[in-house]
Amino acid sequence: MRKVFMTALVLVLAVACCAHADEVKIGACIYRFNDAFMLRFRNAMSAESEKLGAVITIADGQDNQTTQDEQVDAFIADGVNVLIVNTVDRMASQSIIDKAKAANIPVVFINREPTPEMLATYDKAYYVGAKAEESGTETGELVASYFKAHPEADKNKDGKLQFILLKGQNGHQDMILRSKYSVEAVKNAGIEPVELASAIANWDKLEAMKIMNGFIMSIGPENIEAVIANNDEMALGAIEALKAQDYNTGNPEAYIPVVGVDANASALEAMDKGEMLGTVLNDADNQGISAVRLAAALAEGKDTGTIGYEITDGKYIWIPYQKVTRGEKQ
Ligand code: BGC
Ligand code: CA
Repeated sequence: MRKVFMTALVLVLAVACCAHADEVKIGACIYRFNDAFMLRFRNAMSAESEKLGAVITIADGQDNQTTQDEQVDAFIADGVNVLIVNTVDRMASQSIIDKAKAANIPVVFINREPTPEMLATYDKAYYVGAKAEESGTETGELVASYFKAHPEADKNKDGKLQFILLKGQNGHQDMILRSKYSVEAVKNAGIEPVELASAIANWDKLEAMKIMNGFIMSIGPENIEAVIANNDEMALGAIEALKAQDYNTGNPEAYIPVVGVDANASALEAMDKGEMLGTVLNDADNQGISAVRLAAALAEGKDTGTIGYEITDGKYIWIPYQKVTRGEKQ
């Protein structure tokens, strides 16, 4: 722990010495660098900071809240002008808000949403993200319209959709709401959803692959009519497991529609190859750009109305999702 702290501190100091006095210094914390979606997010933040002439330092929380708390402390000690935080555990947001408030610097949370009560405790606390229920609804709709257009997809001919659900991390709003609203959307399309099995796979491809392997063995691929995953990485893990059983390799007799969320490049590729049904664009570029613009404006005390993104309820920037199938946006 101590070593991580020192490393973070040295990194911060190294950047600080090269920054000019009038440059905005942004301290950004990411819950884990090893996350395909957060990589897109980081790239967008770095590019926008460079455009604005701001200096951003991004720390890897390594999926450990204690590590991240130390990184927040190090950034504040170094005198950053603003924080951007993707918490490991969003329930830790309050203590981060308290620290930012004590140091009188703004804090912009990203991707992992604090509760409204937490945000309300500090006038300089904001959230940039996307509405999880939207992406849930859209993945459910993708599956429902496929099911309706393809009578053969109802393998046991009972008119119901037998599906598997792969969930992200416990407590994450995207896990809770995507799970709920995807199934809800199937229902709203007039199809009765039947959950064969579900499991937490922590947004992770390998974990999802192992879990899906187990489900395939216990349930039998011929009995699975869809796989709904909370993100693309887990969808791709499920597809790996299916391909090992000669499913989703081009034979229409052996195909299970799989959907995810993010529209990562690897998912678009899988869709082009016909291995994956669809995904929903989780717009990392606009989330990253708006977070940096908001952070910079707040740090400089500028009018946040000029950043090119609408601020809702004085606290939120919401970036819309968009359905994607076979390389086309719907
Ligand atoms: C993304 C996931 C990502 C997670 C990280 C979600 O919005 O869809 O791919 O792993 O955020 O918090
Ligand atoms: Ca069925």
